[in-house]
Amino acid sequence: MRIINARDYEHMSRQAANIISAQVILKPSSVLGLATGSSPIGAYRQLIEWYGKGDIDFSAVRTVNLDEYVGLGPEDEQSYARFMRKNFFDSVNIDLKNTSIPDGLNGDAEGECKRYDKLIASLGGIDLQLLGLGPNGHIGFNEPGESFTKGTHKVRLSKATVEANRRFFTDGRAVPEYAYTMGICDIMQARRVVMVVSGRAKAEIVREAFTGPVTPRVPASILQLHRDFTLVADEEALSLI
Ligand code: F6R
Repeated sequence: MRIINARDYEHMSRQAANIISAQVILKPSSVLGLATGSSPIGAYRQLIEWYGKGDIDFSAVRTVNLDEYVGLGPEDEQSYARFMRKNFFDSVNIDLKNTSIPDGLNGDAEGECKRYDKLIASLGGIDLQLLGLGPNGHIGFNEPGESFTKGTHKVRLSKATVEANRRFFTDGRAVPEYAYTMGICDIMQARRVVMVVSGRAKAEIVREAFTGPVTPRVPASILQLHRDFTLVADEEALSLI
């Protein structure tokens, strides 16, 4: 495990974007595993800027996103599919046909999860997986207590996660209680994993996840065992280690 100590959110975002950009330059047809949430937005913004300057080309890149809320379709304002278009895909030359996100409208949970894992396998696996860190240590929507051996599956979100995500549901709608998420097994099989974390509020969970024991109680702790894991975090997030 490697730790990149960034000054603040902007610096963290540039450092992460540098790693993603190097990945795409070295392998233009890379399979990128992508995340939503506040943490990666700055990295997406930076990649968009470099794309605008002609420094990076996404035309051959394929992407698979970590997760999607069950019940939300791609046109839903709060769906992760929409988030990705708004914050990244619509601003670079990625072919939308090369982007994949679990289908939140597929009511056949088992079928959808199998389809998604087959899709990842058919792409040859993930070259670089980008992650954020949940306040309770979740990665994707793998909540505390989740087995390390699962592929894509349907989860019931913990109260803590529903609370943390309420900030995005500004129109007063309820936060969905279920999601489809890649499993820890999918994440651990990615050839490279990069996590972005910022802010004092994440310092305690960063300490637990990366200096404590590897345990399903803290899903991100498994990343200590990944062969190519880089934590890109700002000073506040690293303040307790
Ligand atoms: C997002 C995801 C989540 C977030 C995590 C942190 O696709 O899978 O695990 O990465 O909840 O969210 P932020 O970055 O908003 O603190």
